[in-house]
Amino acid sequence: MLDIQKIRADFPILNQKVNGKPLVYFDNGATSQKPQVVIDAISKYYQEINANIHRGVHTLSQLATDAYEVARGKVQHHINAKHAHEVLFTSGTTFGINLVANGFAAILKPGEEVIVSHLEHHSNIVPWQMLCEKTGATLKVIPMDETGELIMSEYDKLLSGKTKIVAVNHISNALGIINPVKYMIDKAHEAGAAILIDGAQSVPHLKPDVQALDCDFYAFSGHKMCGPTGTGVLYGKEEWLHKLPPYQGGGEMIKEVSFEKTTYADLPHKFEAGTPHIAGGIVLGAAIDYLNSVGFENIQKQELELLAYATERLSEIEGLRIYGNSKNKTSVISFNIEGIHPYDIGTIIDKLGIAVRTGHHCAQPIMNFFGIPGTIRASFSFYNTKEEIDALVEAVKKAKMMLS
Ligand code: ALA
Repeated sequence: MLDIQKIRADFPILNQKVNGKPLVYFDNGATSQKPQVVIDAISKYYQEINANIHRGVHTLSQLATDAYEVARGKVQHHINAKHAHEVLFTSGTTFGINLVANGFAAILKPGEEVIVSHLEHHSNIVPWQMLCEKTGATLKVIPMDETGELIMSEYDKLLSGKTKIVAVNHISNALGIINPVKYMIDKAHEAGAAILIDGAQSVPHLKPDVQALDCDFYAFSGHKMCGPTGTGVLYGKEEWLHKLPPYQGGGEMIKEVSFEKTTYADLPHKFEAGTPHIAGGIVLGAAIDYLNSVGFENIQKQELELLAYATERLSEIEGLRIYGNSKNKTSVISFNIEGIHPYDIGTIIDKLGIAVRTGHHCAQPIMNFFGIPGTIRASFSFYNTKEEIDALVEAVKKAKMMLS
């Protein structure tokens, strides 16, 4: 059992008032809060070992390089990648997906196909649309049903010899639905296609095992898993990372440069041009250590309890509709109140100290499916409590009364 009060004491930001009320932070899907160990690790880096990496023989540069590569190793073990060089540090999930989509421009031919799903965040739609425009390939979309689940029989029908890559999220950011990614990976491979999993919303809740999943790419962000913003990871199978061309040209990604010809560095440096977010990579390692010290089993247990409690309590409110009723869900509740715009509810409950996201959540196709402009999204983390959910329910009731 987690001692939630002890856990909350690790997060200094939680202990404050917003608009005169105790902060209730339910916007974890947008970004997680940071524990003191992560905050301390940032200043420790700048106070003690700040230097550029992979470039200097001097001691600080060696220390920074070692710390950066130790962090890469932590990510490798966390996601169970076979090799450390299959772990690319990026600025976030969006960068990782764009890197792969850009690489496929050299592979795709007109008439070939890319599959995404109706449940995607814009960052797992637009890069593939841009790729299709560039190459003459066609974008296909796996449909969803009223419960928010993807329709697997339709996915099976979309796959064919023309499919070159499938890109799907592990967990939907807008609805919290957990997709059957293992099934989808195996089916993509049976069709001879590669598959990228967008793990932006899964890594705060679970520990992905990329070898057991057998995905070709797995992209995620550091800031949703207690790490700093501007950090992220793209896992790629070694053979794919050899096959794809570099994404950006610059320093550190080369072996030799002349005006006639440039040769590229070995993995992972081939994909890490320029000075990276050194502190960010190192501190992402500290965030992973922190999450593992809490334990993902404990995290899941606490978050699923919060999800069940919030679903029950919010359902008391007349006219409240929750979008995405699948049983395969993480701790996200997207809802609306009949006849009231989500922004209006969000604005009023903010005055009561409650932080939620309102709007289309960068997932307009999902909103179009339900015929709505947006939702109110409460996304819970292991450091949230049932008392905070009670505060949300009371605030939503109050907002509803004021707006009806
Ligand atoms: N993708 C983030 C969210 O869902 C920002 O809120």
